[in-house]
Amino acid sequence: MHNCNQQAITKAIFPVAGLGTRFLPATKASPKEMLVVVDKPLIQYAVEEAYAAGIREMIFVTGRNKRAIEDHFDTAYELEAELAAHGKDDLIAIVNAIKPDDMECVYIRQSRALGLGHAVLCAEHLVHGAPFAVLLADDLMVGDPPIMQQMTDLFGQHRCSILAVQEVPQDQTSRYGIIQGETLTPDLIKITGLVEKPHPSVAPSNLAVAGRYILTTAVFEHIRAQLRGAGGEIQLTDGIAALLGSEQVLAYRYHGKRYDCGSRLGLLQASVDIASAHPELGGEFSAWLKTRQGI
Ligand code: G1P
Repeated sequence: MHNCNQQAITKAIFPVAGLGTRFLPATKASPKEMLVVVDKPLIQYAVEEAYAAGIREMIFVTGRNKRAIEDHFDTAYELEAELAAHGKDDLIAIVNAIKPDDMECVYIRQSRALGLGHAVLCAEHLVHGAPFAVLLADDLMVGDPPIMQQMTDLFGQHRCSILAVQEVPQDQTSRYGIIQGETLTPDLIKITGLVEKPHPSVAPSNLAVAGRYILTTAVFEHIRAQLRGAGGEIQLTDGIAALLGSEQVLAYRYHGKRYDCGSRLGLLQASVDIASAHPELGGEFSAWLKTRQGI
């Protein structure tokens, strides 16, 4: 019999329908996922992370005002012709690398902003019964190997849903999905409970879910069964919490760094760190930063 759990992770869902109100006025007419860190939009960092993990089908759950994302991953004939006419082969290579030939992009609309769980549910018919990844582009993750690669490697061993987690200060639990669990190894925790954005006084731990998930398709029926949760939205966290009744779900303390690019401070921090490590800009930028110290 064909067992879906034997499959590798080949599809990733990118929920990109959010309004991005924390970045107004920048996000009035353009998607928050197109905010730039150094020279790439946030969504491209997430797609590159998925691609590096061997994922080739990228499913974007979009909404109004998100056309720029589709354009970004589409061919730009005029631009390429213009660059070719001027012999700018290096720039053509940069443009072509946004969507390698073996990568497929699929777009589906989430017509109403009913929450992250609902966004993931919108892509149900596109994952065809196979376990899949979810990446939230406003969490910019840096790791070597990339975080999603670390997670797909783990999936190869454990064949179950896996959530990336990190410790957060106790007073920040109300910003995240927070897990409760039993430690299996220094990196792995068997999740026994999961709650969305608990007040610090009732949070079961300070281990927070970062925006990287590998999920089995059983989660869909549990999301569908959810009532509106925290913030009046259909929460992915609540669907996964319900999944715990029937399947093992692991939390993985990923090795790397997360930048909360859903906040202005996080976007600035990512910009400084990534610019400092940039192969072309890094030297000059770091030298300039040093001159600013003490100001
Ligand atoms: C979402 C999830 C939350 C998770 C967070 C990670 O929240 O609902 O469980 O911890 O992403 O960034 P959001 O940031 O969309 O409010």
